[in-house]
Amino acid sequence: MSAKRQINLPGCIIPGNIFLAPIAGYSDAAFRSICHDFGADLCFTEMVSAEALARGSCKTKELLTRAPNEKLLCIQLFAANPNSARRAAAALIPLKPALIDLNCGCSVPKILKSGSGAALLKEPEKIKEIITAIRQEIAVPLSVKLRSGWDSTSINYLRSAQMAIDGGAVMITLHPRTKSQGFTGKASLEHLAELKKSVTVPVIGSGDLHSAEDALTMIETTGCDGVMFARGAIGNPFIFKQTSILFKGEAPRPEPLQARQRLDTVMLHLHRAAEFKGEKIACREMRKHFCAYTRGLPASAQFRSRAVHAKHISDYEKLIKYYLLEEKLHIKYT
Ligand SMILES: Cc1cc2nc3c(=O)[nH]c(=O)nc-3n(C[C@H](O)[C@H](O)[C@H](O)COP(=O)(O)O)c2cc1C
Repeated sequence: MSAKRQINLPGCIIPGNIFLAPIAGYSDAAFRSICHDFGADLCFTEMVSAEALARGSCKTKELLTRAPNEKLLCIQLFAANPNSARRAAAALIPLKPALIDLNCGCSVPKILKSGSGAALLKEPEKIKEIITAIRQEIAVPLSVKLRSGWDSTSINYLRSAQMAIDGGAVMITLHPRTKSQGFTGKASLEHLAELKKSVTVPVIGSGDLHSAEDALTMIETTGCDGVMFARGAIGNPFIFKQTSILFKGEAPRPEPLQARQRLDTVMLHLHRAAEFKGEKIACREMRKHFCAYTRGLPASAQFRSRAVHAKHISDYEKLIKYYLLEEKLHIKYT
C-alpha cells in the first residue's frame, strides 16, 4: 500500500504527507520554496513570537514572507498566554495561512523562560486555553507540535495532545523526545505509535528522519499519517522528492545525487534568498546552507572555507565555477 496520502483537515486539504519542519534560522521563504520545488507538501515557518506579533513587530512579520509557489503555508507561533496568542492570531488573518501551529516543544532557555515552547508541557491545560483563544479569533485549522514530555519522569504527550484536541486542534505533530533529552538519544517510535492509537486527528512524526527510508520506516512502524523533515532537509531538499518516490512505491532506492545538482540548487536557493532579503543578507545567511549543501563533496572543506568570505552572488558563482573546473565535473555525491 502506498505511504503517500493526503491529509484531510476540517477546512484544509493538504495534498500529501511529507512536510518541512519549523526550523529556526532555516525555514524561511527561500528555503521553503526550494523544498516545495522538490515536492514538500507543506512547509512550516520557523516559530514566531505571539507577543511580538501582538505588538505589531514588523521584524516578526518579515519572518512570515510567503514564496510565490507556497499555495499552503503553516505559520508556527510560540506563545505563553491566551491573550497574546489571540491577538497574534488576529494579526495573521491578512496572511491567509492554511494552518497555524502552536510550538509546545522548543527547549531553548529563552523560550522556556518566557513560559512558551516546551514549558507548556508542564501545564497542558494552558495548551487548551491557548488553542481555544486562537480558535475564537481566526477560522483557520490549528495544530500543535509536541515533545513527549518535560523529562523522563513526566512523559505526558497523550494528555498534552488531548488538551490540544479539546481546545480545537485538528492535527498533532510529535517529536518523541523529552525536553530534557534535547536532541540526544533516539526519537521514540513507540510514543508516536501510542499517540496514533489514542487520537482520531492526523498525527505527524518528527525526529531522526535523515533519509526517505527513515520516513517510510516511521510510517510503517507507527502508523502515523505523515512525516516532517528537519535536520535531514537542511542542505538536502532532494529528500522530499526521494521520499515521495519511495512512498509511491515507484523505486526501491533513490538515485545518488550528482554534485552538479547540489551546486545548481544552492545557487537557485541563493538567488531566491536575494529576492526576499537582498543580496547582502542573503549571501551572509547562505554560508550555513552552502556548508550543508556541499557536505560530503570531494575537497569540500577547502571549498567551504572559501565560501565564508563570499559577500556577493558573483563570489559564490566564481567559487562553484572553479570548484567544478578543479574537479573536472567527474565528481559524484554519494
Ligand atoms: C536548528 C533547529 C531549529 C529548530 N527550530 C524549531 C522551531 O522553530 N519550531 C519547532 O517546533 N521545532 C524546531 N526545531 C525542531 C525540529 O522541528 C524537529 O522537530 C527536530 O529537529 C527533530 O527532527 P530531526 O531529527 O529530523 O531534526 C528545530 C530544530 C533545529 C535543529
